[in-house]
Amino acid sequence: MLARLALLAAAAEATFLVSSERDGKLEYKLPLVLATSHVETAAAAAAAPTLGCTTSSFSVPSWFVSNLTFDMSDSSIMFSVVNRATNYTAILGCANATVTPSTPANRYSHCDILTTDGTLTRNATADKSLLALVRVSNRTSANILLSQDWSCNDRNLTRPIKFSAAGNNTVALQCAGGTGTECTAVDGPFLIRGDLVAPVHIHPEYAEGPIGHSKAGCAAAATTPPSWALQSVYYLNQTGDNGATAISSQTLMLQVINHAIGYQAGCTGFLSDDLSSKPVSFACSGQGYDFVGKDRYRIQTQALFEPATFRFTVNQTWYCDDVDAGKPVSITASGSVVMPLNCTSVATGTAAAPGNKTTCLSVSDIIVKADKAATVVPLPPYSITDPLPTPDGCTVSSIVSPAWTLSSFEIDSSADNKTAGSSSSSSSNATADITAVGFDLQFTTGTNEFTYPVSVYQGPAVAGKPQWFQCKFGPDEEPLAPFDCSYTYNATSRQLTLAADWICNDLDRDHPIQFSGTTVTVASKRMSCATARGQTQCLSAETDSWVAPIANVTWRAADKNVLAP
Ligand SMILES: *[C@@H]1O[C@H](CO)[C@@H](O)[C@H](O)[C@H]1NC(C)=O
Ligand SMILES: *[C@@H]1O[C@H](CO)[C@@H](O)[C@H](O)[C@H]1NC(C)=O
Ligand SMILES: *[C@@H]1O[C@H](CO)[C@@H](O)[C@H](O)[C@H]1NC(C)=O
Ligand SMILES: *[C@@H]1O[C@H](CO)[C@@H](O)[C@H](O)[C@H]1NC(C)=O
Ligand SMILES: *[C@@H]1O[C@H](CO)[C@@H](O)[C@H](O)[C@H]1NC(C)=O
Ligand SMILES: *[C@@H]1O[C@H](CO)[C@@H](O)[C@H](O)[C@H]1NC(C)=O
Ligand SMILES: *[C@@H]1O[C@H](CO)[C@@H](O)[C@H](O)[C@H]1NC(C)=O
Ligand SMILES: *[C@@H]1O[C@H](CO)[C@@H](O)[C@H](O)[C@H]1NC(C)=O
Ligand SMILES: *[C@@H]1O[C@H](CO)[C@@H](O)[C@H](O)[C@H]1NC(C)=O
Ligand SMILES: *[C@@H]1O[C@H](CO)[C@@H](O)[C@H](O)[C@H]1NC(C)=O
Ligand SMILES: *[C@@H]1O[C@H](CO)[C@@H](O)[C@H](O)[C@H]1NC(C)=O
Ligand SMILES: *[C@@H]1O[C@H](CO)[C@@H](O)[C@H](O)[C@H]1NC(C)=O
Repeated sequence: MLARLALLAAAAEATFLVSSERDGKLEYKLPLVLATSHVETAAAAAAAPTLGCTTSSFSVPSWFVSNLTFDMSDSSIMFSVVNRATNYTAILGCANATVTPSTPANRYSHCDILTTDGTLTRNATADKSLLALVRVSNRTSANILLSQDWSCNDRNLTRPIKFSAAGNNTVALQCAGGTGTECTAVDGPFLIRGDLVAPVHIHPEYAEGPIGHSKAGCAAAATTPPSWALQSVYYLNQTGDNGATAISSQTLMLQVINHAIGYQAGCTGFLSDDLSSKPVSFACSGQGYDFVGKDRYRIQTQALFEPATFRFTVNQTWYCDDVDAGKPVSITASGSVVMPLNCTSVATGTAAAPGNKTTCLSVSDIIVKADKAATVVPLPPYSITDPLPTPDGCTVSSIVSPAWTLSSFEIDSSADNKTAGSSSSSSSNATADITAVGFDLQFTTGTNEFTYPVSVYQGPAVAGKPQWFQCKFGPDEEPLAPFDCSYTYNATSRQLTLAADWICNDLDRDHPIQFSGTTVTVASKRMSCATARGQTQCLSAETDSWVAPIANVTWRAADKNVLAP
């Protein structure tokens, strides 16, 4: 990054005299050596997610509905609502909830907020913070619409963030047969996922969950009992003979397939090199991408092999919410089998040093049944597809604490034109005219650790704004770079004013948001200057970065494909 601007403009054969601005000592630095330190500054420690109202509002704007009852005698419905971001709780009652085939599709019954003893306290319709609407069709299902405004002050007590979200879902009702007049919800708690409407529009991305979690029969396997198929079993036991082609080794390889969920794990055990029959336990690796990004749970498969008897034991934990997503479970089961393998041995080595290579293969699938009851552990409601909380990314940072990280600040100036052609004297630096200003820039988030800043070079002048220049970006542009920017620099006050737009789509790939804001910062880092051929370049040390807050941030929906390559 040294001489980053000059490399664009100046002649390649220019020789630089590098001097330190502060102590005047002469030093010479190779640009390439400095360029590598880039990697170290970018590899900051990973930030832990900040849990609480703000994080939950961005990641899981949603409500739990529980204790829902529908009274057939008067068509009224009652249920309680918990906002998962704020823990706001209310009991709602809605009259005249039944619709008939002739009822218009947009006709819903308004719900009122009740006290815990079931009496009316305030009118939910009048209370703008929560709007609840319901329609019950054919005594079989209730469609609930919720919309709520709230604010979170867990990030900054004096500057709460206002949220607004809306969502709907249909809950199945189970009505008592015959004389009963009350119906209850089949699922409880019942989840209503919302779209964030404010401060930004976000349709949250939920996790896929581990393979097979919603496959019918997943949870039932715990009592069935569980079983696995072992496929493509390969066992090798060979002596190390002659030292030429074979080294002594003992290996087991096989595939384990969980019958309930179809999940396949690959097991490779490198057993004792001394070819002894010591039992060895090892972990098997999962199928495909079974742990991408947002997933909270991961299927785990542990194997134990006893070479003396060919007994293979599998111990697996998997996750199910096929019966009720509101009541997910983890299932841990284990089973073992003596594998019937077809072995062939060949003599290897020499008469003086005889060897032996034994290879054993499975002839068909080997079935393993669990040898004791599976362990079933309940998990938090809906946790299988809830996204894991992450450190603040682009979107949350833009709203909570928008800031740029600046580094590699460079000022180029021309010495007096009359002295061009000869090496300039140091006295001419004071009156030199700035020809270009540049810097490295990166939006500051809790997730920058593996990204790099982008180099910003001085582009064309901005029409109608004297001393303002368009940003020109270096080739290594990164997602946390500005989308567009312009800036002006005041040499006297060393103040940089940066007007920038940046785009975030980390929370919702389909709805990128374009943010705009202005940063005023003083470039006060120590600079080292070099003068050659009438050009003086001053550059701050590579490791000297600083964080400058962005003020007056505004945002709007960006074009869906704005970040497409
Ligand atoms: C549901 O009702 C039960 C029993 O009345 C009560 O203990 C529980 O707190 C209620 N749940 C909610 C979320 O209101
Ligand atoms: C909501 O309640 C849960 C469980 O009690 C707690 O962990 C969480 O911090 C609460 N959230 C807020 C915003 O109070
Ligand atoms: C329910 O609807 C009927 C007729 O549509 C009306 O007479 C009655 O007042 C309504 N009840 C409530 C509680 O709104
Ligand atoms: C609630 O408010 C709405 C509109 O403000 C009104 O139409 C409705 O009658 C009120 N319900 C009750 C139970 O007061
Ligand atoms: C209403 O529900 C009953 C059983 O619950 C079902 O047989 C009938 O087809 C349903 N009617 C409509 C219009 O959905
Ligand atoms: C909280 O917000 C106020 C007002 O915007 C600001 O002055 C203050 O610095 C913020 N506090 C923190 C800890 O960020
Ligand atoms: C219900 O939610 C879906 C998205 O889950 C949305 O597309 C639909 O417009 C919502 N319906 C209403 C009536 O709000
Ligand atoms: C492996 O092969 C060697 C040589 O034939 C034999 O001594 C050893 O017992 C074998 N190990 C096992 C676990 O079968
Ligand atoms: C299976 O693995 C789990 C977790 O590692 C462990 O708690 C359990 O004891 C193991 N069960 C058997 C039968 O090995
Ligand atoms: C066992 O392996 C041998 C050699 O590969 C083969 O000829 C034989 O058919 C196999 N036996 C069975 C039962 O598959
Ligand atoms: C090779 O080893 C196997 C098992 O360890 C044994 O059964 C077989 O007899 C041995 N073969 C020779 C040629 O030593
Ligand atoms: C002085 O230098 C600047 C840039 O270094 C150049 O654009 C300009 O043409 C020069 N003026 C003269 C009179 O040489």
